[in-house]
Amino acid sequence: MTKSLYERLGGAPKVAAIARDIVQAHLANPLIKTRFEIIDSAKLETNVRTFIGMGTGGPETYEGRDMPTAHKGMNLNERELVAAIDDVLKVLDKHGVGEGERREMLAILYSLKDEVLFK
Ligand code: HEM
Repeated sequence: MTKSLYERLGGAPKVAAIARDIVQAHLANPLIKTRFEIIDSAKLETNVRTFIGMGTGGPETYEGRDMPTAHKGMNLNERELVAAIDDVLKVLDKHGVGEGERREMLAILYSLKDEVLFK
């Protein structure tokens, strides 16, 4: 049977490290860092970890808000979306995640575009 994306990412420890590095990458990215400077980054890290875990077939339970609610009032644009997605792809590459898995993640993130932009 084909392994879940979660397993192919490397399971719980890898997903946790990836979530941590995504939040750090956003905080260091000049295009979007101001969006993240005012929020609780430890809480965001937990929410990103469980969101990725649950969304890729892992046992985690995501307890954060739905995407439109979480991004409400931010009025995010496409440029910021691309910047955020670039951070994720770079982090996956850094963790040795293969091209096929990176493409799957990209497709998932892109599919959520309308749930996060211009809310
Ligand atoms: C497909 C794209 C995106 C996904 C899947 C995503 C996912 C998430 C998740 C799971 C959370 C946690 C929800 C919660 O706190 O209850 C979150 C929060 C957040 N996201 Fe996104 N996000 C996306 C795009 C963006 C972009 C482009 C930005 C800004 C450049 C952004 C900025 C934020 C901020 C600032 C928070 C924290 C909100 C708060 O704590 O009040 N997100 N996002």
